[in-house]
Amino acid sequence: MKKVTLSLIKADVGSVAGHTAPHPRMFQAVHSVLKGGVKSGVIEDFMTARCGDDISLIMTHDKGENNSAVHKLAWDSFMEAAEEAKKMHLYGAGQDLLAEAFSGNVRGLGPGAAEMTFEERKSEPIIALLADKTEPSAFNLPLSRIFADPYTTTGLIIDKRMHDGFIFDVVDVKAHKKIKISTPEGLHDLLAFIGDITRYAIKRIWSKDKSIGIAAVVSTEKLSLIAGKYVGKDDPVALIRAQSGLPAAGEILQPFAFPAMVSGWMRGSHWGPFYPSAQDDSNPTFFDGPPRIVALGFHIRDGKIQGLEEKPEPGNHIPVDYFKDSSWDYVRRQAMEYAIYIRRHGPFMPAILPPEELEYTTLPEIQKKLQDRWEEAD
Ligand code: F6R
Ligand code: MG
Ligand code: MG
Repeated sequence: MKKVTLSLIKADVGSVAGHTAPHPRMFQAVHSVLKGGVKSGVIEDFMTARCGDDISLIMTHDKGENNSAVHKLAWDSFMEAAEEAKKMHLYGAGQDLLAEAFSGNVRGLGPGAAEMTFEERKSEPIIALLADKTEPSAFNLPLSRIFADPYTTTGLIIDKRMHDGFIFDVVDVKAHKKIKISTPEGLHDLLAFIGDITRYAIKRIWSKDKSIGIAAVVSTEKLSLIAGKYVGKDDPVALIRAQSGLPAAGEILQPFAFPAMVSGWMRGSHWGPFYPSAQDDSNPTFFDGPPRIVALGFHIRDGKIQGLEEKPEPGNHIPVDYFKDSSWDYVRRQAMEYAIYIRRHGPFMPAILPPEELEYTTLPEIQKKLQDRWEEAD
């Protein structure tokens, strides 16, 4: 079976009327660069997607992860899109392109990347998760539910290829270190780390069934740490392989029925509930949110993404836009209830993140301004 690398590289390079949605001309620019990449043999196939103001490039190729030609193609695509955004004076034009010039790899330059290499199974269903107004550790809770919680994934009990569990690669985004933790035996150790979403993020998940290999990957670049100052958020993406010895599509989606509180909403400084939405419904419209999650399903065969149409014909729903379905309306209503509830706290905790997690703050200046007015407390 064919070995393929799937690269999901994303960036926010400008949007219309706030941090809302990229302009269609930006997608046109991206498409023409990526088509050139197919023609010149850098990539085999691609599709584009978006969640809120972030553009995702989903590319297939045979060059492995962190390949400089593939990353340069993604960089060039975002540069062209940023040019379009600049021409229109759109908001935040080019914001995630932190370097003047490309140097080898997009990691550390601003865009986020989730990449995996695997040997195609007989049928290779993939789900891409795209999030806006939150950060990579937002995936800690749903991914641990999907791959380590038998109350979510019955497959962990009754599918013999999943029964031994999965191995999690966890990164410490502050110390730039990583650790492997095997579940179910290491489940409590895993949760001891990944419950701290300020520091630890799940990066990869591996099947213990050697014939399967990689199961999931998350983009874990932390933009604020890369730049040393706030330049926009690291809205994350993830790729998950589904079915046949891996969690079923339905097991992957079920955790999102809980609108879990995630960090990074509005000015990167608030908690808010994950709001599952269709791609076209992912414009963050309430207090720049609530934080969005989009799930897209597609197939890869012989390195090609199957069934994409330039002009969708009736009956063509590729990729499958899972949260478009009306069964998620109930979750959306709940998420809005929680969103309105937490917003009523205004600038008070727990609506806002603790001081060290705020993406920016005026507190040091205020402290300085008022420093002489403090007296001994009674
Ligand atoms: C950006 C985001 C937004 C902005 C907010 C303020 O990803 O989440 O909530 O942080 O709109 O943006 P600026 O500071 O650009 O006016
Ligand atoms: Mg933005
Ligand atoms: Mg965004």
